[in-house]
Parts: sequence; structure tokens; C-alpha cells
Amino acid sequence: MDSRTAFCGALLLLVTLLPLSASAPSKLYIVYMGEKKHDDPSVVIASHHDMLISVFGSYKHGFSGFAAMLTKSQAVAIAKFPEVVSVNTNIFHKTHTTRSWDFLGLDYNQPPQQPGLLKRAKYGEDVIVGVIDTGIWPESRSFDDNGYGPVPARWKGKCQSGEKFNATSCNRKIIGARWYGRGISAESLKIDYKSPRDLNGHGTHVASTIASGEVQGVSYGGLGMGVARDGAPRARLGIYKVCWLDEGCPDTAVLAAIDDAIHDGVDVLSLSVGGVGQEYSGTLHAVQRGISVVFTGGNDGPVPQTVTNAVPWVKTGGR
Ligand SMILES: *[C@@H]1O[C@H](CO)[C@@H](O)[C@H](O)[C@H]1NC(C)=O
Repeated sequence: MDSRTAFCGALLLLVTLLPLSASAPSKLYIVYMGEKKHDDPSVVIASHHDMLISVFGSYKHGFSGFAAMLTKSQAVAIAKFPEVVSVNTNIFHKTHTTRSWDFLGLDYNQPPQQPGLLKRAKYGEDVIVGVIDTGIWPESRSFDDNGYGPVPARWKGKCQSGEKFNATSCNRKIIGARWYGRGISAESLKIDYKSPRDLNGHGTHVASTIASGEVQGVSYGGLGMGVARDGAPRARLGIYKVCWLDEGCPDTAVLAAIDDAIHDGVDVLSLSVGGVGQEYSGTLHAVQRGISVVFTGGNDGPVPQTVTNAVPWVKTGGR
């Protein structure tokens, strides 16, 4: 140990152990010193500038800086040092995203004496959501029907079979599935499943963000491990496949699906499709029959800072 190291060691001890002067109140500050140039950033400040500071912790791997209890005048003085980029008081951040359900009051973990909206809405129990999209992948665990009661008696929909999809593909979660292949080119029909089965994955994603039951131990290759579930985990799904690989979703099919969905008895209709066509009139009739219609706002305008599908009788949201 050379004398300089010994000196620094002693100083650090001094820096961390000596009590602060009791006169001025101190607060937790973050002293940011930019790119990493120092092995012990707080010692640099304390030793070079002959300061007594109570260090909370140092940042020395990816960048330089430290957190310390400082008085206002210490903070002002340190901010002027050439090694220092900024000095700011410590703040508490709030989490963004993946908390949408909490934000909307659809929280699973509300205390029992304060039941949230989700509980009061019985987790969407027996609400039937029609999803007009690319179909469904029925084997996904999100659509497991374990623990669901019988299909609501008022439901008039059907489970239309086709390629790799038969009556057993529907259950008490996916209570209906229809597909609309008319007007789709032979090539598209050849690539895609001629049935409600979803080759694209979009419709399965959308359906699972609406009414997925709880699935434990979900991760992305081991990252972000947690529980997957959705806003209305007990709701039932009626699937309407109108969108086809390569070709998209013809207005004719969308309208036919809306028409069928009104007949089948959905409570909510979800359309995650873009473009202005006759589908708006269809949704107007759905709303007139007491069905809530939910559209996506789209990812690309019409022009920057705008959304599509914002007709006044529907709800338009982001996912
Ligand atoms: C169709 O039904 C039979 C049982 O009747 C089942 O074994 C089979 O896996 C089903 N096919 C598909 C693609 O779901």
C-alpha cells in the first residue's frame, strides 16, 4: 500500500464516517460526473476540494458519479467543480407500461377491503368479445377453458370447422369461430389455413390481449418471466377470421363478420384493422344494438400525431 492509497483510504473513511454539521439540513443528491474517468468518484471530489461529505454510493463502472447527503450550499459548491456535470436531488420514478391494468384500475392485487374495477366486473365473467382479425391459434394456453362454466345460453354463434380446425378447437373460452374466405384469391387461400386457424399470429395476439386467462411462467427466452393475463381474463371469445395472409381484410368480409357478430350475441366487438371503408357503418349498427365497439388507433397516422379509426361512436385505443 503506497502512501497515496493509504491517504485516500483514510479520507474515504473520514468521508463516510464523520458526522455532518448539524446546523444545515442535508438531502440526498446525485452528483453526475459523466464518462468514467475515476475509480472512486466521491474521493476525487472530497480530496481535490477538501470537502466533508456523507457518501451514499458511487457509480464507477459505466459512468462516474456518486450519491451523497449534501446541504444546499455543498450541492451548489460541488456543481461548480470542473469534474462535475450536474448535481440533482434524488427523485422517485414511476413505472411505465406493463402497468396499464393497474393504471385503469383493473388490478389483480387490490386489497380485499377496496375491491378494484376488475373484481367488481367479475373479471369479465360471461362477457362475450367478438374479435374480427386473422383468426385464432386455439392451442395457446391463454385460451385454456379450465374452470369456465357453460357457454352463456344467449350465445347463438357457431364453431365453423375447416383446415386444421374442428369442433374440438372451440371450447368454453373460444365459444365461436367463423371464417370468411369469399373474395380471397386462390393463392392466399392456399398459403393460409382455410379455417379460423390463425397463420399470421395477429388475431391470436389481439385476442390474448383482450381476454387471455392467467398463464403462469411466461417469458421471452427466459427474460421478463411472469404471469400473462389480460384485462378481462374471464371473458369469452367469438372469433371472426376476415384477414388473410398477403391480402388483408376485405371490407366485404369485415361487414359480414360484424353482421354475424350482432346475430351471435357479442357484447363487445374488437377491430384491430385499419383503413376507412364501409366497416364504419357496420359498427354504427352494432353500437345501435348495444354492442361496444373498440378499434385500434393504428401505427401510422394518416399524418404524424394523428390516429385512424376515431369515429365518435367507437372507442379507439392503443395496445
Ligand atoms: C379434430 O378432432 C379430432 C377428434 O375428433 C382430434 O383428434 C383432432 O386433433 C382435431 N383436429 C384439429 C386440427 O384440431
